[in-house]
Amino acid sequence: MALTGILRTGLVQLRVTDLEETLQHYRDRIGLYVVGNIDENRVMLKAYDEFDHHSLVLRKADKPGLDFMCFKALDEKTVNDIVHKTKDEFGFPITFEDNHPGFGRIWFITVPTGHQIGIYNQVELSENHPMIDNPHIWKDCPHGMGPACVDHALLCGPNQAETVRWFTECMGMSITEYVLNPDGQGHLCTWLSGNTRGHDVAVLSFNKPGMIHHLSFQLKNWDEIGRAADIIGRYGIKIDAGPMRHGITRGQTIYFFDPSGNRNETYAGGYEYFPDHPTRKWTADHVGEGIFYYEKELNGRFLSILT
Ligand SMILES: [Fe+2]
Repeated sequence: MALTGILRTGLVQLRVTDLEETLQHYRDRIGLYVVGNIDENRVMLKAYDEFDHHSLVLRKADKPGLDFMCFKALDEKTVNDIVHKTKDEFGFPITFEDNHPGFGRIWFITVPTGHQIGIYNQVELSENHPMIDNPHIWKDCPHGMGPACVDHALLCGPNQAETVRWFTECMGMSITEYVLNPDGQGHLCTWLSGNTRGHDVAVLSFNKPGMIHHLSFQLKNWDEIGRAADIIGRYGIKIDAGPMRHGITRGQTIYFFDPSGNRNETYAGGYEYFPDHPTRKWTADHVGEGIFYYEKELNGRFLSILT
């Protein structure tokens, strides 16, 4: 078994204010595949290289933002261990739902930053999964930006340290990098990995609970980032920053907005992480190059627009 514990981000539900226009963005511009509707307000999507039933749900709502972010665990024992440890040692609110199409039971934990974090193991194989027998590189030629999968999200809220402690001590994830607060005490932002990616989730200190800075989709290289930038230009998608590189994680990236105002990222490259690697540390005076490696300073939108 190559990996144990938490495997990856597996299911995210975003709130969108204009379902039709925002669906066009994720389906035709980013290049996800529509799996189907849950009801008239919720649409399921997946990326071409994902095996599981779906990975993203868009839910029509009054304001944009994140409903929940779920992680797939290796097995039911991992799920049960996390559930019991959350109840016994952390005391965070926890519940479960059995009504997500294609998924078995998903346990939802309200973490101190105000986010709903889901844990599950059981999920059906997608009807549109990557080929298994004598497989071609893809079944159908990817369209739009053509991301392989949902990659990660940056969550923002108060009590960042307690949420990070839960991700490490209960979920078994590793801290790959962090930025210290300006006074040198505690973390301003922390990057966490459950596998060999530089991160599956990052957590930023913020005064409002339950906020999301961005949801990221995985591309493979600079060529694909460049093509994503061309699509952004061609279709007048509102861009935030990039194409550029991060110092933190070394990822190659573009930030842009969906029609409902949620920030997206297309993310490629970055280093390979192993649990024996030292945690990389940044001081607050270097955060500009940590995020915007070429320009060395953040733009105003990047720090102020969250949903
Ligand atoms: Fe990111």
